[in-house]
Amino acid sequence: MRHAASSTNASRATWISVVGARPQFVKLAPVCRAIDAHNQSGALPLIQHEIIHTGQHYDREIAELLFEQMAIPQPSHNLGVGSSSHGTQLARMLQRMEPLLRDSNPQWIIVYGDTNSTLAGALLAARLQIPLAHVEAGCRSGDLSMPEEQNRIVADHLSNLLFVASQSAADNLKREGLCEAGRHDRRVVFSGDVMYDALLQHLSYAERRLDENLRQFELERGQYYLLTLHRAENTGDRERLATILRTVRSLDLPVLFPLHPRTRQVVAASGIPLNGSLRPVPPLGFLEMIALEKNARKILTDSGGVQKEAFYLGVPCVTLRERTEWPETVACGANRIVGSDPEALRRAVKDEAFTNWQATPYGDGKSAQTIVNHLAQAANA
Ligand code: UD1
Repeated sequence: MRHAASSTNASRATWISVVGARPQFVKLAPVCRAIDAHNQSGALPLIQHEIIHTGQHYDREIAELLFEQMAIPQPSHNLGVGSSSHGTQLARMLQRMEPLLRDSNPQWIIVYGDTNSTLAGALLAARLQIPLAHVEAGCRSGDLSMPEEQNRIVADHLSNLLFVASQSAADNLKREGLCEAGRHDRRVVFSGDVMYDALLQHLSYAERRLDENLRQFELERGQYYLLTLHRAENTGDRERLATILRTVRSLDLPVLFPLHPRTRQVVAASGIPLNGSLRPVPPLGFLEMIALEKNARKILTDSGGVQKEAFYLGVPCVTLRERTEWPETVACGANRIVGSDPEALRRAVKDEAFTNWQATPYGDGKSAQTIVNHLAQAANA
């Protein structure tokens, strides 16, 4: 394994988490809690955890609000990269993060999920010879045209510790030769899903404000659908997006539609009407989101994280993509993949035969603790 020298001794270690986009803040929150618990337990090493926020997401609703609601400590650095082309965004991250990582020379760099911020953190860890841990490793959609798929593959192949949320993710890594025996500089660990931890830690608190949230949007429990759409494969194709929204507009119940900034811009520029059953609203905080997910009749989404949240909450999910990185949700009958096909979408929304699933393929909601224990053990090795 690559070794960092200066920031580590037997009793103290610096770990740096690199995040930048909404789903990464959700994954980071339980890890921060688990690090606090580790430090309070007196176990060694004492971890100094620093957060680098690339600034990929900067709107209050999808950045700051999540830090507040999930009690995530303030980042040590915000690189303020903002939005631009993928190349420019990535270049800014690399340029602004490199000196920070070089100066603090941490024992671990931890990256999460599959965004451009994940890729930047992974590339720099490899170039600077700093050990790299990837949370939510091994997910594959099989579609290499997706930026997220490219980011995941590179991050996994550069990582020393790969934390997988499911057996299928471990199998993907095996197929790519990342589980070979005798490779002591790389280890695959089944941690389960940190997003499950996040949900369990916040749900009962979130539900206290459910009635207020329902009143605000003029909805009734179980009498609405919840829609999210932001993936490039949908927002980058005007016809496809218009087809999905035309179908959803004519559904039989109100459709709460928190609009991601990217989707808001595309819809405005292309003049797609958001009328009929659609109730467009600004992006929701994490607490509002999980409470409203839990009480929806069905969830329609192209988000990977929302598919899993639907699964944990026992709400049937209709996925507006051609593939999913979470095949277990489909196998147990909790999720239908419909792409943008209007007929398949209508059928899935009407279908009352979604089974009651009991499967628990993504761990027990204590993933962050497993992750922190393994990182700390490697420190003591
Ligand atoms: C990114 C991730 C995606 C993840 C999503 C979660 C990549 C390649 N994609 O997609 O995997 O599911 O985050 O939300 O990293 N914008 C704003 N305000 C913001 C952020 C973005 O207006 O705070 C607009 C900008 O016009 C920007 C566009 O949204 O160009 C897309 O943002 P970007 O971060 O590039 O990708 P996401 O679509 O958010």
